[in-house]
Amino acid sequence: MTQMRAFRIHRFGGPEVLHSEKIDVPEIGAEEILVRVHAAGVNPVDLKTREGKYPMVDEDTLPFTLGRDFSGVIERVGQNVTVRKPGDEVLGFVGQGQGAYAEFVVTDEQALAARRKSIDWVTAGALPLAALTAWQGLFDHGRLERGQRVLIHAGAGGVGHLAVQFARHKGAEVFATASGDGIDFVKSLGADRVIDYHQEQFEDIARDMDLVFDLIGGDTQSRSWSVVKHGGALISTLAEPSSEEAGAHSARAGRYTARPDGEQLEEIGRLIEVGYVKVNVVASFPFNATADALSTLAKGHVHGKIVVNLGDA
Ligand SMILES: NC(=O)c1ccc[n+]([C@@H]2O[C@H](COP(=O)([O-])OP(=O)(O)OC[C@H]3O[C@@H](n4cnc5c(N)ncnc54)[C@H](OP(=O)(O)O)[C@@H]3O)[C@@H](O)[C@H]2O)c1
Repeated sequence: MTQMRAFRIHRFGGPEVLHSEKIDVPEIGAEEILVRVHAAGVNPVDLKTREGKYPMVDEDTLPFTLGRDFSGVIERVGQNVTVRKPGDEVLGFVGQGQGAYAEFVVTDEQALAARRKSIDWVTAGALPLAALTAWQGLFDHGRLERGQRVLIHAGAGGVGHLAVQFARHKGAEVFATASGDGIDFVKSLGADRVIDYHQEQFEDIARDMDLVFDLIGGDTQSRSWSVVKHGGALISTLAEPSSEEAGAHSARAGRYTARPDGEQLEEIGRLIEVGYVKVNVVASFPFNATADALSTLAKGHVHGKIVVNLGDA
């Protein structure tokens, strides 16, 4: 096969700029791997990229294939690839590279984990970006330890629902914000206290937090300083927290971008396989309905993950 279908943008804008096209199957370099995609996760970064609001993809990068994480089967490997081989079943996160809403995606060995047979293709495709974001935010940047207290803003979303479970598994005391149906959902994931952010002020309930994991930004982030304990941390996926506030609380603060990490994905896969962590896939769209999958995410209130299933193309 020399050509493939991919959902790409040639300019920034609304749903009208995303189109399915036939393009050449990408060539791979010596260190790279070509994966035939089975399922691809749907993430807010896809919407931000489409709208021209994601700084890592500018006009010079266009045309750009959306989609950041995937499950699939290795089709070809570069000459310096040592461990993986054609036919291996894998999942991964492409980082800043061209995307996974395509029949084939290019990645590298360090970004991949083996798909465990007990994790179906759709679930495996839903996982990498959200799970790595949650893992790295809590443990690499947040340095969360057993017995500590963490507040997770947006505990019902793609990243948040995994963060709640990772933090529980670590042995932390977990507070999380949610609303509507999301409240029972987040309780079912094992959060110790779910705060209805429409009805309650989280500052009245969550105090002396070792870590606030911020998936919302803005006012929610600035109000969060009042619940961070002296010497604690505020870590955000969105905006850089105030260094003045961090200084005033003797706290660590930071904003980070999730990075591909196959070893962490292997560990997360193990937690899912043994039943400690569940991935909540709320909707799976066939490949030709990729634009609808993005529109569904854009409407908000997603409690878990949306996936594009190329098996249903
Ligand atoms: N820096 C990075 O590398 C990185 C990586 C991944 C994600 N992100 C960013 O992190 C954010 C979260 O990502 P995601 O994939 O988890 O998004 P998502 O799945 O779209 O999250 C949506 C969830 O947020 C909840 N929510 C909305 N407003 C809220 C509020 N004020 N307080 C508490 N919960 C609220 C919604 O629940 P309701 O039903 O209550 O509306 C919904 O469950 C996004 O902005 C994304 O771009 C950054």
